[in-house]
Amino acid sequence: MKKGLVVYASRTGNTGKIAELIAEGMRFGGMEAQVAEVKEFQNEGGLAGFDAYVFGAPTYHGDMMASMKTFLFLAEKAQLSGKAGGSFGAYGWSGEAIERIYGTMKNVFGMDMVGDALRLKDPALGGGTSMAQDYGRSVAKKVLGE
Ligand SMILES: Cc1cc2nc3c(=O)[nH]c(=O)nc-3n(C[C@H](O)[C@H](O)[C@H](O)COP(=O)(O)O)c2cc1C
Repeated sequence: MKKGLVVYASRTGNTGKIAELIAEGMRFGGMEAQVAEVKEFQNEGGLAGFDAYVFGAPTYHGDMMASMKTFLFLAEKAQLSGKAGGSFGAYGWSGEAIERIYGTMKNVFGMDMVGDALRLKDPALGGGTSMAQDYGRSVAKKVLGE
């Protein structure tokens, strides 16, 4: 079975909730999915062996959290070129981190990204649950070639 990894940073839990919902959607779509927090990675070794990677962080002070920046430098060494990818994050009004993660995955890592990044103001409101699950399904579709 194809396998996906969702990695997130979060300060107050919103981005963590989105991560779990995306993983659920990936499973609904027919693949295995694991969720991990950025701080669980000391080196790039833990990133090996997945077919899809979805990374997410909230925006604070117009920027992504430092722990996600550190993680992205580590992921740069994991040779993710050609793998399916997506990005996401909770935000309040500007959400810069979400597109920056997407851009790094696409332009630096050379990943095969799903159409867009997933931006959610609050995972509990405005259809956020189904949007996050649908995002996971679209990652699974890309991986399974549907
Ligand atoms: C001190 C502070 C600064 C923030 N700065 C931004 C910002 O620059 N842009 C934005 O879109 N949201 C900003 N937010 C809102 C957070 O991104 C939002 O609350 C998000 O849901 C937090 O996600 P988390 O629970 O995963 O940490 C800020 C929130 C706080 C408390």
